[in-house]
Amino acid sequence: MGLRNIVSSFLLLIFGVSLIISLLFVFDSITFALPTIQKPIPLTQYELFPKGLHLLDLYNFQYVINNDLCSDETDIKGIIIVTSHAGDIEARSSMRRAYPSNLLKTLGLRRIFLLAISNPNDVRYNSISQGALQDENLRYSDLVQGNFKEAYRNLTYKHVMGLQWVTRYCSQAKFVIKMDDDIIVNFYRIFHIIESSLKERNNSFLMGYVLKGTLPVREPMNKWFVTKSEYSDSVYPPFLSGWMYITTPRVAKTLVEISKSIKYFWIDDTYVTGLLAHKAGIFHIDIHQYFTLYPEFLECCIRDKEYICDYIVGPSNGDPSLVIHFQMHADNCQENQCIHRSHEKALNRTCVAPKRTAVLRHGHGEVNPIQLF
Ligand SMILES: *[C@@H]1O[C@H](CO)[C@@H](O)[C@H](O)[C@H]1NC(C)=O
Ligand SMILES: *[C@@H]1O[C@H](CO)[C@@H](O)[C@H](O)[C@H]1NC(C)=O
Repeated sequence: MGLRNIVSSFLLLIFGVSLIISLLFVFDSITFALPTIQKPIPLTQYELFPKGLHLLDLYNFQYVINNDLCSDETDIKGIIIVTSHAGDIEARSSMRRAYPSNLLKTLGLRRIFLLAISNPNDVRYNSISQGALQDENLRYSDLVQGNFKEAYRNLTYKHVMGLQWVTRYCSQAKFVIKMDDDIIVNFYRIFHIIESSLKERNNSFLMGYVLKGTLPVREPMNKWFVTKSEYSDSVYPPFLSGWMYITTPRVAKTLVEISKSIKYFWIDDTYVTGLLAHKAGIFHIDIHQYFTLYPEFLECCIRDKEYICDYIVGPSNGDPSLVIHFQMHADNCQENQCIHRSHEKALNRTCVAPKRTAVLRHGHGEVNPIQLF
């Protein structure tokens, strides 16, 4: 009796186990039959730090810090490239606080900061050690640093490095926003403007504050002094303010290609969006009406919660709280319906504040090379 029981329960056990095994096989073949999800392939160290890359006339160009920001996603709306001085840690941190990378991700945006090698003798900026930059990158993974020196006259390298980076590492993005780290942008609203242009212009445009008829400064004492050998013509072709402009990876690629055949010129926005764009025949779309030159106007915007700000781009004047509060205002208008100002309530009528000088070029409001008003 006992033996028979043992044998039958043994047989039952065998049956049960084989049933489970065969069921597993069935499930296995079902899961195998499902379409496999493509896993993102992260870039290798070799791809992130390639040798033998050229940047304009720098034949030993290399990335010192680089990040894989785009390879995890094929559906990226925009890549924001921010020109930043290595020592400008505060400007980067207020941008990160106002627009954290996870908020940007929900909007389909990625952001990198473009840096060069910090010069410890640069008295204009807080110098920063390479170790501090490495730590910053460990924390935020959003720095791209080239192996040329931080210098005003090297900004063109930095600018083209950004476009080249987009071409190499984020060419699937629909558009590129190039901006300075002391500029405030309402990304929600810039979106609407971009979307219509992408369709209309077949991905080939440069959109921003168009500056026309700008003359080279020929005063040797001026910081913006340009010699005849640097630029010989008497007037620059139309170009966009480097504060912020929008383009596409396709145009970025064209501009990088053309930069190989046009002599280096240190005023970066003039070189890239003027000289290179002119040679390539890229169309400019003027959206200057959305720009304000005065941070005071942005301050006034923040005070009136119920109104949409008349401007979507302006200078922060290095004020981190303005960057953050402007974003909070934009957030509020994104969630709740804000109304447009009436003619009587226009900011240029109601916002009375002593205006600090702002320049539509880099230089943090130091020198005023062009008279706008
Ligand atoms: C620009 O960078 C290059 C390469 O690092 C360097 O040789 C040059 O001195 C820099 N320019 C200025 C004006 O510092
Ligand atoms: C003030 O701004 C409005 C648009 O917001 C514009 O139509 C008007 O021309 C501006 N007035 C002056 C004096 O600049």
